[in-house]
Amino acid sequence: MSELAKIELDGKVYELPIITGTENEKAIDISKLRDMTGYVTLDTGYKNTGATKSAITFLDGEEGILHYRGYSIEQLAEKASFIEVAYLLIYGNLPTQSELDQFEDSIKKHTLVHEDMKQFFEAYPSKAHPMGVLSSMIASLATFYPESLDPNRSKESKNLTIHRLIAKLPTLAAWAYKNSIRHPFMYPKNEYDYCKNFLYMMFAMPTEDYKVDPVIVSALNTLLILHADHEQNCSTSTVRIVGSSNSNLYSTVSAGISALWGPLHGGANQEVIEMLEQIHNDGGNVDKWVLKAKDKEDPFRLMGFGHRVYKNFDPRAKIIKKACDDVLERLGVNDPLLDIAKKLEKVALEDEYFKARNLYPNVDFYSGIIYKALGIPSEMFTVMFALGRLPGWIAQWKEMTENKEPIGRPRQIYIGETNREYVDISKR
Ligand code: SDX
Repeated sequence: MSELAKIELDGKVYELPIITGTENEKAIDISKLRDMTGYVTLDTGYKNTGATKSAITFLDGEEGILHYRGYSIEQLAEKASFIEVAYLLIYGNLPTQSELDQFEDSIKKHTLVHEDMKQFFEAYPSKAHPMGVLSSMIASLATFYPESLDPNRSKESKNLTIHRLIAKLPTLAAWAYKNSIRHPFMYPKNEYDYCKNFLYMMFAMPTEDYKVDPVIVSALNTLLILHADHEQNCSTSTVRIVGSSNSNLYSTVSAGISALWGPLHGGANQEVIEMLEQIHNDGGNVDKWVLKAKDKEDPFRLMGFGHRVYKNFDPRAKIIKKACDDVLERLGVNDPLLDIAKKLEKVALEDEYFKARNLYPNVDFYSGIIYKALGIPSEMFTVMFALGRLPGWIAQWKEMTENKEPIGRPRQIYIGETNREYVDISKR
């Protein structure tokens, strides 16, 4: 017999089932609330509302814990490859060697993009933000693969669409960058692994031999793993709700890319670097900018700080902060922005305003410093986030479709004008 929650409304007591997850999280199941009571709940921004039951990612915001399919991100970041983690998130278990080989081979078969899509790039202005290009290009894939328009057509067709998307996103992302600097596109080299191939397409030129630095490949592998999923965040919730209408995977992920672009979400990593540069150019006076962040009259926020769920250090930020020192040292990069970031973190974490609100560095606070050291321009930082988050979006979409979840359609409380009579314009 499941536990029950009791609520009293208009003198009547109602009992609602309590759901307990495998990590002992608890929820009151209100799926029958309106039928039973005529009431709905209200929770703007869904700060207290569970949208689904999921077996993909568990995070504990108070303890700073993040697990993918039960494996801690600390283990996966240290021991796994990004493609291995993508398989884990999407199919539920770490692959055997032959499963991983098959997965990688299938992805390598689809890294090319239809030649007609190259013309789309030429229509964009060179200053086009790559997130806008990427979101459109990913949605356009649905027009080249009409069989994807029925997402539940067959297991084989669903897997083909998933593998095509994982394979083509890096190519389209690298081409969006090349297009922005009006450099020739580099075609994928399928003898390279996922991360090496992306870096090759980003930085190689047809006129010279390009050697991909293994230090950079390893750093990118870690960064993509850390971004791979994060349960029901803004962009993943977007993917789930768009996918719940039975829209195809390409347009569903395109919507996720658009949601991620926002500066309060994935766009924060670009904002952080621009904020650190602003503080650096302003003489590095960290105390002044922390004061601005606390001033309610000032729209300035400490980008890369705070989190809806983590009320402790974001475990990903801890790993990335450690990687910063290591990667910059191995690349021989001395970036004053890293010193400013560390000073900013120290001052904020000792400040009552931040402590009272449990504001800690999040995943975006240090990631831009490494991306910058890898030679990636700040306009591409959120594209890197999308590259990492892709397997998470796919896994969450796949879970939602396989569980045959209903179309997402929240209710509301209407607070507008009540019934009014139409008045002719001459009398208004
Ligand atoms: C990501 O959900 C996920 O999992 C997201 C993500 C993922 O992997 O998918 O982890 C990735 O999006 C990380 C977050 C990146 N965004 C930023 O770094 C932007 C800066 N941070 C914030 O804007 C803010 O902290 C949010 C958006 C992240 C969270 O906002 P909430 O949960 O809605 O909290 P809030 O805005 O209500 O803030 C609570 C209080 C407020 O002060 P009071 O009204 O109580 O006086 O904290 C203050 C806020 O003003 N506050 C900040 C602050 N963040 C919150 N004050 C100064 N600087 C900040 N960064």
